[in-house]
Amino acid sequence: VRQVEAYSRLAGLYDEIVIDPCHDRWASFLDELWSRDGDGVRSVLDLCCGTGLLAAELIARGYAVVGVDASDAMLALARTRLGADAELSRMTLPDLTAEGVFDAAVCTFDGLNYLTPDELGLTMAAVAQRLRPSGWLVFDLHTDQMLDFTSSNPVVAGQSAGNDFVISSVIDPGARACDTRIEITRPRDGHPFCEQHRQYFHTDSDVLASLQDGGFEVTAVTDEYTHKPANASTLRATWTARLLRISDFS
Ligand SMILES: C[S@@+](CC[C@H](N)C(=O)[O-])C[C@H]1O[C@@H](n2cnc3c(N)ncnc32)[C@H](O)[C@@H]1O
Repeated sequence: VRQVEAYSRLAGLYDEIVIDPCHDRWASFLDELWSRDGDGVRSVLDLCCGTGLLAAELIARGYAVVGVDASDAMLALARTRLGADAELSRMTLPDLTAEGVFDAAVCTFDGLNYLTPDELGLTMAAVAQRLRPSGWLVFDLHTDQMLDFTSSNPVVAGQSAGNDFVISSVIDPGARACDTRIEITRPRDGHPFCEQHRQYFHTDSDVLASLQDGGFEVTAVTDEYTHKPANASTLRATWTARLLRISDFS
């Protein structure tokens, strides 16, 4: 089976096999959160925007969204979804060369789990430079429960929209890294392929330190995109932070 670059061929199947229809709910959560900000939230930087599923929901709710992602193939699909006028750029975090100042930045569906702990810190600092004072940074990350769940369920096989897939994960507990091999054993179209993805389970203290160093204050850590505090069964935690001051580097 031919191995291809992460998020290259998988891009074409992403919306079918990777995603449950959650972005509508997540955008409603964000919209409700931001509606309480007296300064108003209008411009949003969507980090690791992928195929634009969240951006589409935010745009439908009246936000001006700029999307950045490392994958050309994912961005091409975002372009198709969002149209020719959409502001989309290829950027590989922590290199964030987006221009302008935003009211909020988001990163959904474990985009920041693709960064090493060092890259996470650099990314927070870079995002801080692109936000207005009291601007919002909202993102989700896998929890330790997700680490345990993945360790106990290292192989998941299934079929979705006519594509047979096998997802196998190997966790390096010391590095808190997870190497996931996503193999499309029988695609609906074309030849079988596999992609190798490396993600990191960030510790809460690393995330907190990265945010604090970037000048952010954490206001909540909740279960998925809800107001329920993260708890012992939370697999995906949503972090909400506000920028305390303009970055020293700006
Ligand atoms: C699981 S997808 C999430 C996409 C989207 N946020 C969503 O909610 O559907 C992860 C995305 O992160 C992108 N990505 C991974 N590492 C990245 C990096 N260092 N810089 C920018 N994008 C990255 C991938 O290309 C992919 O599109």
